Amino acid sequence: MKKITKAVFPVAGMGTRFLPATKASPKEMLPIVDKPLIQYAVEEALAAGITEMIFITGRTKRSIEDHFDKAYELETELEARGKKQLLELVRNTVPKNVNCIYIRQAEALGLGHAVLCASAVINDDEAFAVILADDLLDNRGGPSVMQQMADVYDYHRCSVLGTMNVPREETSQYGIVSTEGLAGKVQRVTGIVEKPKPEEAPTTQAVVGRYILTPRIFDHIRALKPGAGGELQLTDAIAALMKQEAVLSYEFDGVRYDCGSKLGYLKATVEFGLRHPETGGEFDAYLAHRFGGQAVAKKK
Ligand code: G1P
Repeated sequence: MKKITKAVFPVAGMGTRFLPATKASPKEMLPIVDKPLIQYAVEEALAAGITEMIFITGRTKRSIEDHFDKAYELETELEARGKKQLLELVRNTVPKNVNCIYIRQAEALGLGHAVLCASAVINDDEAFAVILADDLLDNRGGPSVMQQMADVYDYHRCSVLGTMNVPREETSQYGIVSTEGLAGKVQRVTGIVEKPKPEEAPTTQAVVGRYILTPRIFDHIRALKPGAGGELQLTDAIAALMKQEAVLSYEFDGVRYDCGSKLGYLKATVEFGLRHPETGGEFDAYLAHRFGGQAVAKKK
């Protein structure tokens, strides 16, 4: 198996939790301060050495393609006005050595189906990453979560699922794994179920939107029957893969913001706003004034 160079970004989902904002534009283009969610996800992949970005898109997702493309009119305009810094920002959305591939998922048949759409561009000797952009994972300048997972993959050479512990009442929002101990944060997965009720969940260890999968996963997706919600669930294919070869879970270092939910999105906005070089100081002072506390960023 080669080093991981490809990441799949399933971005065909409807984003119903953010309507009406997502009626005509993708949820992955919602910004946290000044960068869309999908760009954070791509930057996380880049930090892990990934250079082929495969987007599984759908209707109303054209702006994602435009975002990672050259913007001639905008660049000409910024150049003419001498706005050098902004020009750099616009030009460097993705570095030159990065390839973006777009595959259209005609029907929204579930995460498993979205991943299967990438099979045409993944060789059978290479593992690949899957990144769900609405899970924004932040390791505050430390190695990105995908970088941490790629290290685990390089060592163990098998599929790796990014996980975190969640309150029991939330298990029905996640794929939940049972594991047996290897070393600390890395465990061997012995079972995985999609969105179990709290009283039925085997553990509270939840899969977040980060996966490294071996290409054998595609055969298991092809063999799937529709699972929870009538969709082809990636979780069910992983449950089958696990019987054929080792699958590991990795409890990552960092914080997850569920930017598919309004509350998680707002939390991420506050955190990233406090840290942003342009807004940080004043935003911090505003929050301190507004809530009658001390400025928070300075205390950290
Ligand atoms: C998907 C997966 C689920 C995983 C979650 C992480 O669910 O099916 O196993 O735990 O992402 O965000 P979704 O949130 O798309 O319903």
